[in-house]
Amino acid sequence: MKKLIGPKKIRTAVFISGKGSNLKNLIRYSKIKTYPFSINLIISNYNKAKGLKYSNIFNIEKKIIKYDKKIKIDNKILKILKKKNIKLICLAGFMKILSKNFIKRFDGKIINIHPSLLPKYKGLNTHYRAIKNREKFAGCTVHYVNSKLDSGKIILQRKVKISKKDNHISLAKKVLKLEHLVYPAAIKIILD
Ligand code: GRF
Repeated sequence: MKKLIGPKKIRTAVFISGKGSNLKNLIRYSKIKTYPFSINLIISNYNKAKGLKYSNIFNIEKKIIKYDKKIKIDNKILKILKKKNIKLICLAGFMKILSKNFIKRFDGKIINIHPSLLPKYKGLNTHYRAIKNREKFAGCTVHYVNSKLDSGKIILQRKVKISKKDNHISLAKKVLKLEHLVYPAAIKIILD
């Protein structure tokens, strides 16, 4: 990705469907001078997503996009992104699959965080499956988004030990804490 010249930050949109702890964390990091991105737009497919509150708290524009007719929706989002001059998309707990066309139009500029050590445990219920399989390590991965679920090129991955006492809930907490370090670091890697 293009190198940054001077203090200019890359205008970024974060897509969410849930509580938005990664969104909040990315906003926090975006305010640090050495982190080369700003969060300029929040997009959600779900109007009750808890993370939408960060739009008011941090005064960032939000758009709620109802996913009924896919192609139309893609074009609608693309229009909004263009208008806001968005150059990077960060998916953070976004529960909808973007169309091939959308990904093509934003090629190499969409990234996602997944709560597992990819390529292991793509999809949902990662912590539950990791515990069930008696894995020794869990972790999180930031990767580019391509048309296959959780399969794009890996940017950064970190692991954490699963202790004997862990269940899927405690493990999810542990991994989320790690996600909050890994996501901003990954963005820095691709933009610096
Ligand atoms: C995170 O675990 C992320 O890895 C996954 O969905 C969760 C979102 O959490 N894709 P939050 O909404 O950022 O708190």
